[in-house]
Parts: sequence; structure tokens; C-alpha cells
Amino acid sequence: MTIPVFDAQIPATASPKVEFISLSHLNPSTELNPVKVPHGIDLDYFKRYVATLEEQEFDYTLLPYGSNSADSFVTAAAVGTLTERIRPIVALRPNTTFPLVAAQKLATLDQLTQGRAVVHLISGGSDDEQHRQGDYEPKPRRYARTGEYIDLLRRAWTEKEPFSHEGEFYRFDDFGPGFATYSGDPIPISIGGQSQEAFDIGGTQADIFSFWGEPLPELRTEIDRVNAIAAAAGRPNPRIWVTFRPIVAATDAEAWEKAYDYIGKIGATYEKAAYFTRRHQSKATNIGSVRALEFAGASERYDRALWTRTAAATGGQGASTALVGSPETVAAAILDYVDAGADLVSIRGYDTLADATEYGRYVLPLVRQEIAHRAATGRRGTLQSEHLGYYSDDFVAAADSAADKAAALEGAGA
Ligand SMILES: Cc1cc2nc3c(=O)[nH]c(=O)nc-3n(C[C@H](O)[C@H](O)[C@H](O)COP(=O)(O)O)c2cc1C
Repeated sequence: MTIPVFDAQIPATASPKVEFISLSHLNPSTELNPVKVPHGIDLDYFKRYVATLEEQEFDYTLLPYGSNSADSFVTAAAVGTLTERIRPIVALRPNTTFPLVAAQKLATLDQLTQGRAVVHLISGGSDDEQHRQGDYEPKPRRYARTGEYIDLLRRAWTEKEPFSHEGEFYRFDDFGPGFATYSGDPIPISIGGQSQEAFDIGGTQADIFSFWGEPLPELRTEIDRVNAIAAAAGRPNPRIWVTFRPIVAATDAEAWEKAYDYIGKIGATYEKAAYFTRRHQSKATNIGSVRALEFAGASERYDRALWTRTAAATGGQGASTALVGSPETVAAAILDYVDAGADLVSIRGYDTLADATEYGRYVLPLVRQEIAHRAATGRRGTLQSEHLGYYSDDFVAAADSAADKAAALEGAGA
């Protein structure tokens, strides 16, 4: 294996800043320990989870959406009233809400949170899931609809005079001016998806483009791909969001023990369909998930600390690739992605609430310290050269030893 050089030179592709996202959990059920929750939302837990994200200085929280999940606008509004700083990201499928109504709801959320609203537009990765709510458009048309939707959101937020519209998907007369956002500027718009259509819309229209955690060279290629589309459209590069499920413990060796303990539990949960929603139970057809499974099929280990067993165990559904190691190793791995151009890093664990606290205490400060060091000195610090992950023999030995122990236990029928 060639070990990359982590000298003081900051790579040209590096993002100068990084912000952290975590998905909001509404109840204590996890892939490790699925529990029956009578109403889906456990209010005390949700309040505690959101307060933890705020206390631990996460910057954003994603409110996900599925046909049988809680409604993401309502949960985002709850996050807004329960917090003062963290920014709710509403996952929104255009088929569910007329664009002018979505613009109005988002602007309302933005005013209620004094400018904290963000929207993540989902064109729909699975036809079956779209059919559940009456959307029979094929995927290319769903993305074309998202393109028209984005234009209308921005016009609804910014046009000073009433306007009419007759497009491919939407038609209305004499709307506006719409309800304004807190600042009067458009709310940031993120795109999720990795098909060619997703790249086209992301590059030409989005503020943020999001990925599941992928190996570094492949992610870098995907970032170049969306940036080239943005450049051809005469737009600035979108911000890059990348998503992981870190497994962190005090030392690298302990993190590997934890990872192999987790994988047995996650696999059993997935097989019993005890945790995952319907959206996550059908075969993954969105490109990001298909890619996650391909990476998992080719290797378990990539770069410094990426581990794909979790993706393989869950059929690549949703965010599933892990980063494994001590806080230092995981922070260094996150910085590798910052060096590749990511500036929004989504991390949530498998032990959701405990992990949010642990990341906030031990991982976020290390990444932020390095970013501050770079800003102050113009040089890269030593975290990445001192915590090499798979680039060092000790780390590989720790991973191998935990894998052997887990295999022996399994062999013994434990
Ligand atoms: C960070 C991130 C968050 C996502 N959140 C959701 C979600 O809450 N609900 C959902 O249905 N899809 C979600 N997706 C999935 C994709 O947006 C969706 O599958 C996409 O519209 C189609 O993907 P494709 O173009 O790769 O086929 C998310 C994707 C990413 C990368």
C-alpha cells in the first residue's frame, strides 16, 4: 500500500472550513438495540437528543423523510423551538408538497428559527416508495420536476411582484410576493442522489450536494464531476456534504472490538427487519446505495479508517459506511475528506445518543482545532501524520485481531 504524504502542505482541494451535521432521532430505538416505540416519537428522548446536539456544538440536524416516517417539516419546527443555534435541515420530496406551499413553509420555519432553515431535496431513489404516496413519475422526470421546483422555491422567496408560471410540472397564476425568509435571501438548497440526473441538477442549481461516505479517490472524482457541471453553468461549486457512521472508542484496538460487536447486532437486527423502515427494507436502487454495496463487495477497508461491513450488513440502505478508530484516528479520517473538498460532515453513530455526546466531546474539537491551526498558520498540523489508521501495521493488526476474535466466537456458536 502506498502511504499518502501528510506533510505541512495543505492540499489545493482542501476546504478551509467544516461544519457538522447529525440526523435527529425521534426515539431510542437503534440498529444495535431495536425497541418497540408505541408512537414513533418519544418526546423526552427527542428533546434530549436535540439538546445534546446543541450542547455538543453540532451545526445542523437532518430531519429525514419517508412515506411512513414522522413529517419532516413538523419535526424541523420542533427542533427550531427546542434549540437556539442548531440549523434544522428539512428532507423534502417535491411530490409531497406544491412548490409555493413548500416555499411558504420553509420561509415560516426560517423566520421562526431566525434564519436557520435548510432544505434537502429528495427526488426519490425507489419507484416503489414513490408509488406509496401517489408519485408515478419515472426517476428522470422526478429530477426534471426537482429542477423546476428549485426555480420556483427561489422565485417565491425573492420575487417582489406577483408572477404566473406554466412549466412542465407546475402551473399557477398571479402568485406573490411570497412569504419572505428571515434575511430575505433564499434558504440553502441541498440535493441528495448520485444518478447523472442528480449531478445535473446539483451542479446547475443546488447550494449543497450530498454523498454517503465513499472511498476518498472515488469521492474526489464525484466532487470533480459535480464541480465541472457547476463551472459549465457559470455557478460556484456547491458545498459538499459527506455522511458517515463512526465507531469510536478510547483506543483504536477498543474501537475495533466495538465494531465487531456491533456488526453481529446490526446484521441480526436487519435480518429480523426489526428496525428499518419500509423505505429501507426494499432493495436499494438509488445510485449512492448501489455504490456503497459495490465498495463493500470489493473490500472491507479503505483509506485511513473507512469500514464497509456495516454497509454490507444493511444492504447499503441509507447512511451505512463507518469510520472506525480512536477519536484521533476518526478525526484524521474526517480531515482526509475535508482535504478532498468536503465541508459539511454528517456523523451519527449506531448508539445514537451516547455517540452524539462522544463525538461532541472527543472528535469535533480535534477537527475544529486542526481547521483553526490551518487558518492561523497556513500549514497542516500533525494529527493526520500521527494517527495513520490502516496506513500503519498496528492498526491493521488491531482490526485483524478483533475480526479473528469475532470469527472464533461465531464459530463457537456464541
Ligand atoms: C445525505 C443524504 C440524505 C438523504 N435523506 C433521505 C431522506 O430523508 N429520505 C429519502 O427518501 N431519501 C433520502 N436520501 C436518498 C436520496 O436523496 C435519494 O435516494 C435520491 O433522491 C435518488 O438517488 P439517485 O439519484 O442516486 O438514484 C438521502 C441521501 C443523502 C445522500
